[in-house]
Amino acid sequence: MGGQSEKWVLMVTARTPTNIAVIKYWGKRDEKLILPINDSISVTLDPNHLCTTTTVSVSPSFVEDRMWLNGKEISLQGGRFQSCLREIRARANDVEDEKKGIKIKKEDWQKLHLQIASYNNFPTAAGLASSAAGFACLVFSLAKLMNLKEDNSQLSAIARQGSGSACRSLYGGFVKWIMGKEENGSDSLAVQLADEKHWDDLVIIIAVVSARQKETSSTSGMRDTVETSALIKHRAKEVVPKRIIEMETAIKNRDFASFTRLACTDSNQFHAVCLDTYPPIFYMNDTSHRIISCVEKWNRSEETPQVAYTFDAGPNAVMIARDRKTAALLLQRLLYNFPPKSDTDLDSYVIGDKSILQDAG
Ligand code: DP6
Repeated sequence: MGGQSEKWVLMVTARTPTNIAVIKYWGKRDEKLILPINDSISVTLDPNHLCTTTTVSVSPSFVEDRMWLNGKEISLQGGRFQSCLREIRARANDVEDEKKGIKIKKEDWQKLHLQIASYNNFPTAAGLASSAAGFACLVFSLAKLMNLKEDNSQLSAIARQGSGSACRSLYGGFVKWIMGKEENGSDSLAVQLADEKHWDDLVIIIAVVSARQKETSSTSGMRDTVETSALIKHRAKEVVPKRIIEMETAIKNRDFASFTRLACTDSNQFHAVCLDTYPPIFYMNDTSHRIISCVEKWNRSEETPQVAYTFDAGPNAVMIARDRKTAALLLQRLLYNFPPKSDTDLDSYVIGDKSILQDAG
C-alpha cells in the first residue's frame, strides 16, 4: 500500500436507479441472509430521477468506516451494512493507480477504512424503494473501488443482504429475483429478463401521495405477515409461481393487457396479505384507494387504453402507461381528480420512462 505520501484518497462515484416490483417480494425464509419466500419481478426506472448517487472513498488517513446519507451521518454498525462490507472486502483485489502512485494489495482492504456519501433524489423510506437503490449503489460502487471481478448477478446476491429488493436494482430493464433453494443463499440472486431497450415506450407516473416516512418498515411488516397471515402461505406457494411465469411471458410478448392484470392483482393481493397480518398493516390510505378506483374506472372505459397500477409499502401510487400519449391523458385525469397539495393529500407527481424523466409537481 502506498504512494508519494500517505495522504492519497481514491474514490468512485456511481448512480443506481430504484426499481418497482410488479410481482412483489413479501416475506423471508431467512431473516439474516434475506432469502425470500417467493420469486419477484420488477421494472428498473430511468437513472435520471429516483436514484441514489454514492461516492465511496478510501484513504490510509481514514481511521474508521463512516457513512453519510443525504448529508447526515448514519451508523454503519447495523448487520446489513456489515454483511455487505464483509462480503465485498472478502472479494477485493489488488488496485493500482499509476498516475497517483497508489498501490493497494488485496489484503490491505481488510485494514483500510472507507468513507461513503450517499444521496437519494427522492423521499427516503416513504415507500419509494429507497433502500433498493441505496444498497445496490453501495455494493456497485464498492465493487468498482475494490476491483471485484464478480458480474452483476453475483453482486446482486451481496446487495440482497443489504435489502432484498436492492438485488433487482443491479440491472436495468425487467429483472427477476430468483428466490433460490440453497440454505446459504448462493442461488438467491437477480437476473435480467429483458434489457432497457425492450418495451421502452412504457411511461411511469408516480403519484407521491405522502412523502412522509412510513410507520411500519417493510422488514418488520413482512416478518409479522410471515408469522401471522394464513393467506401469505397460499400466495407464496400457489399464486406467485403461476404469476411469475405469466408475467415473464407478458413482458416477452409486450402483452400490456396481461401485464396490467398481473401487476394490479399482485399489488392488491400484497395489500390484502398486509390486511391479513395481525395486527393488520395499512400501507395505502384513502387517497391511494381513490386512485385505484379512478384507474379501474379508466380501464373499464372503451375509449382509454389500459394503465397498470402498483403500490409498495407506502401510500404512493406507481402507474405504468403503455406510451406517452396514454400517460399524458392519464396525468390530465389525475391532475383534475387529485390536484397536488390540495385536500386530497397528494404531494406531487413524478413521471419517468426509459430515457426522459421530468417532475410535474
Ligand atoms: C413491498 O426490500 O425493503 O417493496 O428486504 O427487509 O429490506 P427488506 O425489505 P424491502 O421490501 C420491499 C417490499 C416491497 C415489494 C418489492 O419491492 O418486491
